[in-house]
Amino acid sequence: MFKFFKSTKKITDSDNDNIDMDKIPKHIAIIMDGNGRWARERNLPRTMGHRAGVETIRDIVKECNNLGVKYLTLYAFSTENWGRPSEEVSTLMKLLVEYLRNEFEELNSNNVVISSIGDISKLPQICRAELMTAYEKTKLNTGLILNLALNYGGRDEITTAFKKMYTDLKFSRLKEEDITEDTISSYLYTKGMPDPDIIIRPSGEQRISNFLLWQSAYSEFWISDIKWPDFKKEHLHKAILDFQKRDRRFGGVK
Ligand code: FPP
Repeated sequence: MFKFFKSTKKITDSDNDNIDMDKIPKHIAIIMDGNGRWARERNLPRTMGHRAGVETIRDIVKECNNLGVKYLTLYAFSTENWGRPSEEVSTLMKLLVEYLRNEFEELNSNNVVISSIGDISKLPQICRAELMTAYEKTKLNTGLILNLALNYGGRDEITTAFKKMYTDLKFSRLKEEDITEDTISSYLYTKGMPDPDIIIRPSGEQRISNFLLWQSAYSEFWISDIKWPDFKKEHLHKAILDFQKRDRRFGGVK
């Protein structure tokens, strides 16, 4: 079961001082929600909400890198998001390209590795080309691994894994007795990554939305009413601080 925590306390940056730097979560995953509502509250088109959301990405990536977080997975485009109006979908693709172009130097000079999960073969060619360049140029960096979930869906990931396992079984590259939880993990897009320690969901919704379904088995949940464009590093600090107070038993007892 996820542990839901709803942040109501006013957040101040004094939380930063209390963070235990020896217990920084290794993997933070974020469902970047609330861009549309943020825009609506300001009588702006939804796409402006996404644009404002990119500003938050910049700040949060920087702060995760400063804090020594190893993996940051951002849910940027789900397998279901193709169903949005075509103008919104094309803006999201454009924002991805702009982000990779505008931020590349800064990310690379800060030692960030750019990676992704999801089926990127369905993304426009321009997005794939920018992503390939970014992967290639940052692959030897040793800082934060910025993992963008693009055309990602947890069910799609598991379905794809089943298909690959079936083929490997058929051609005897895999034996039934070798199928363990670790083997299954190795067939997922997140192969080699630790499971997320904490999943942050701004904007108040309390659901997983097809995100990291297998990997979130024991992730701590942190939910806040704040919408993604208003999410600041102070909220990240508060989430980390709350995470550090959780009692993680992984189904066992202490
Ligand atoms: C959810 O908010 C957000 C998304 C589906 C897209 C998130 C993408 C970005 C912030 C920018 C593009 C990504 C990169 C990596 C540059 P919503 O639109 O569902 O909000 P709502 O629930 O308030 O309508």
